[in-house]
Amino acid sequence: MTTKLSVKINKIALLRNARGAQVPDVAKFALDCQRFGADGITIHPRPDERHITQKDVSDLAAFLPQANYEFNIEGYPSDDFVQMVLKAKPNQVTLVPDAPEQLTSDHGWDVLSNYTLLNEVCMEFQKNNIRISLFMDPVSMQLELAKKAGADRIEFYTGPYAHGYETGLDKASIVAGFKAVLPLLEDLGLGINAGHDLNLDNLLFLKQSIPDLLEVSIGQAFVRDCLYYGLENTINMYKRLLV
Ligand code: PXP
Repeated sequence: MTTKLSVKINKIALLRNARGAQVPDVAKFALDCQRFGADGITIHPRPDERHITQKDVSDLAAFLPQANYEFNIEGYPSDDFVQMVLKAKPNQVTLVPDAPEQLTSDHGWDVLSNYTLLNEVCMEFQKNNIRISLFMDPVSMQLELAKKAGADRIEFYTGPYAHGYETGLDKASIVAGFKAVLPLLEDLGLGINAGHDLNLDNLLFLKQSIPDLLEVSIGQAFVRDCLYYGLENTINMYKRLLV
């Protein structure tokens, strides 16, 4: 099964914002990713607009989603975020448990402690035909609750996996947690996405360990690789690992 590559373009917006102008053009970058074979775009607008702005969300929503080009919006489900997503109508919303000022996501949801909030917002997105993915660690009880709350998919938080890979931990041990919950996810009918710190070194082993992986969203390493290899080559290099 081919896994979809969703390019996270926050860092393109960050570069643009550094000069307060329109260079590089975020919407054009999203379209160029599609031209070179990416399967989708991920954005994570934050309340302080430090990278993706409200205007980016509406600009991108004007031509995304498309039938064959996935639009994924990540964020903490505050009222403002929920309203923004309902207006943008992406293919998928990925809910993350981040505080507004957080540098980046660093854990999955504790669904048990946030059940009412998650259940309410999932119902709202379901009514509007927006697929819901919850950012999760591989913890069986939490995954069961994610399903109950209304998730269609989960996104595995792969930060610890990537760290373990880089520091040379035993390979079987760094995917053991994910592999242990795969039968449960299949029983629950939850689709599997993954993201955080994925790169050209560690992606293939993750893909081999989770054969039914539906989508990965990759930002930081992807942009670094673009600087060295260029956009088209970088997309091809990632796509080759996802077949
Ligand atoms: N998915 C989520 C929920 C994230 O918070 C991030 C980090 O921005 C990513 C995917 C992509 O991670 P990275 O930028 O390390 O590729």
